[in-house]
Amino acid sequence: MTLVSSSAVLRDVSVKYEGTTVLGPINLNISSSERWVILGPNGSGKTTLIKILSLYRYPTTGTVEVLGETWGATDVRALRQRIGLASSSLRDQFRSDIQGLDIVMTAQHGALETWWHNYSEQDRSAAMDCLNRVDATALATRRFHTMSSGEQQRVQLARTLMGDPDLLLLDEPTAGLDLAGREQLVNSLAAVAADPETPATVLVTHHTDEIPPGFTHGLLLRGGAVMACGPLDQILTAESLSKCFGLSLRLEKRDDRWLSWATS
Ligand SMILES: Nc1ncnc2c1ncn2[C@@H]1O[C@H](COP(=O)(O)OP(=O)(O)OP(=O)(O)O)[C@@H](O)[C@H]1O
Ligand SMILES: [Mg+2]
Repeated sequence: MTLVSSSAVLRDVSVKYEGTTVLGPINLNISSSERWVILGPNGSGKTTLIKILSLYRYPTTGTVEVLGETWGATDVRALRQRIGLASSSLRDQFRSDIQGLDIVMTAQHGALETWWHNYSEQDRSAAMDCLNRVDATALATRRFHTMSSGEQQRVQLARTLMGDPDLLLLDEPTAGLDLAGREQLVNSLAAVAADPETPATVLVTHHTDEIPPGFTHGLLLRGGAVMACGPLDQILTAESLSKCFGLSLRLEKRDDRWLSWATS
């Protein structure tokens, strides 16, 4: 793993579709030891920001630096290989009967299938380690379409860890999970966050109770605009959250978890 102090730097970044700004302007500096959570209502620009950080959506304005390289002046395909990405659009692209271990291994070559590359025993054991890190070794030989949503999410999380990425981007890994599935995934994410080997991590969620313990920074978006940005304990308040979601909310931190609810 290459150590860099800043894993991602966005300067005056904005994204417009047909003249309408859907994100920004935003300035962001993500350091290698930081774990960021992006919170915001539907349509607030979270996935757009993940697309920028994963180098799939070039911004309308501003500059993007990822892992010390400036987008536009570097081999973006090589850079993407160093990023572990999990998202629902990626999940939808896996062949339905591909096995768990193969899904994880494909990340080695930024592929979605094992057919196009040769994999060694070392690759297999590395993929098994990644499954082990998220408590999912039992899913190695299970076919993707037979897994529950929570199991599919855990396999995807394991996939992001393959090949020792230098940046982890997780877009709503807890979406659609039941209580037990969500808690299991939050625990896995907390374990990943606590590991000093884990690189800078950015997690998107809609819910404060899905912020895993150990996350350090937060970005609150509303209508593409930054409502708050910085160390989580400083910026995540009832006021900032209420402003972000457009309703009066209470917020409490208990047992290292963030609980929020609407006031009547
Ligand atoms: N290709 C596109 N063309 C036009 N508008 C787009 C396009 N992609 C996204 N948008 C708009 O940009 C805004 C931000 O979308 P984005 O997907 O980033 O939101 P989000 O915060 O991830 O929402 P959600 O919580 O529902 O996933 C939305 O209003 C969306 O309709
Ligand atoms: Mg989204």
